[in-house]
Amino acid sequence: MAAVLKACVAVAPGRVNLIGDHTDYTGGYVLPMAIPFATEARVETSHDGTYRFCSAKFSNERVVASDTVPAKCGEWSDYAVGVWMQLRAKGVELQPFCLTLSGDVPLGAGLSSSASVEVAAAYALLRYAGRSLPEREVALLCQRAENEFVGSPCGIMDQFVVTTAKAGAALLLNTRDLQYELVPMLNGQLAQCRIVIANSMVRHAIAGGDYGLRRRELEAGQAVLLKKFSALRDLGDATLQQAIACEAEMSAESVMRCRHVVSENARVLQAKDAMLRGDAVAVGQLMTQSHASQRDDFECSVAEIDFLVETAMGLQGCYGARLTGGGFGGCTVNLVHRDDVDAFCDGLKQQFLSRFGLEAECYVCEATDGAAARQDRLQGSAAC
Ligand code: GLA
Repeated sequence: MAAVLKACVAVAPGRVNLIGDHTDYTGGYVLPMAIPFATEARVETSHDGTYRFCSAKFSNERVVASDTVPAKCGEWSDYAVGVWMQLRAKGVELQPFCLTLSGDVPLGAGLSSSASVEVAAAYALLRYAGRSLPEREVALLCQRAENEFVGSPCGIMDQFVVTTAKAGAALLLNTRDLQYELVPMLNGQLAQCRIVIANSMVRHAIAGGDYGLRRRELEAGQAVLLKKFSALRDLGDATLQQAIACEAEMSAESVMRCRHVVSENARVLQAKDAMLRGDAVAVGQLMTQSHASQRDDFECSVAEIDFLVETAMGLQGCYGARLTGGGFGGCTVNLVHRDDVDAFCDGLKQQFLSRFGLEAECYVCEATDGAAARQDRLQGSAAC
């Protein structure tokens, strides 16, 4: 067996979004945090001159000859190959490598398994090339990999928080200018609360048509608003009154999508203030209002998710519950008093099983570090 010349490792977490969904592609606000699930990317020298992509979860290896330019193949490896292509476009030279992915971020659950793979791959490949990039550049490069190579029209939230998050805090991100603020999770009553993610096990895929359709409907509405109010840069600036003033010129769908996004941006900022005050009741109410808006106006929920939210709200100790992430399945995020967490998870799973015959999973999560903070810790170690 040929000797391994070099092996570089990087780790990137998944994320849960506390509030602010579908706001990140029209200049709005989001408030996600990184979660303890993570992807590890390991890059080693390839000895046969090819570029190889392997996964602990999938048996099919992808091999790319050094003189070919790979195209999307519709499989798991596209995310890492897309990142490699973006690095190449940036002039990052990479000698033949074998990249292996492993980890425990639930797939297709709306917890950013894709961004986790992209960001872990980006850091491991950069390390292998002996290069580094600012956090923001890493996040943007990974988003481009997903938009341009994989073909998912996602915004910047996932890649940004997976890269930049810090333990113990949620991250308030302005997706227009990528300015962000860390919001501690432990102020006041929040110290007594836990974030519980409930996985409906209904698979979500943002490369599927619904996400793109909602996005187009929203952008069509935004175009009407920007025409009427020339001072607006994007929907992130718009008020509900302005959105209402444009309703007659929009399709019914665009009216609803804009109403969700404009009201959601306001809720994110209110949730940030409530978190800073440590007001769990207010945070919970905003989460629940956000869910109603996603269900009724953005129409990105499904029956299983609505059931999880309604059931959660009837269980002791639950301050708020909502669909998190892209929607059309996936997970809910719940704010629950720590003393009630076990009974909450049991009750939710039991009722879900009796209603749908499906085993939901519950994950009690603390806010963890993003990939950049983990890289700093790996610096100087034997990671490469
Ligand atoms: C997916 C996308 C994000 C964001 C969310 C919805 O996770 O990747 O960019 O749009 O959906 O908030």
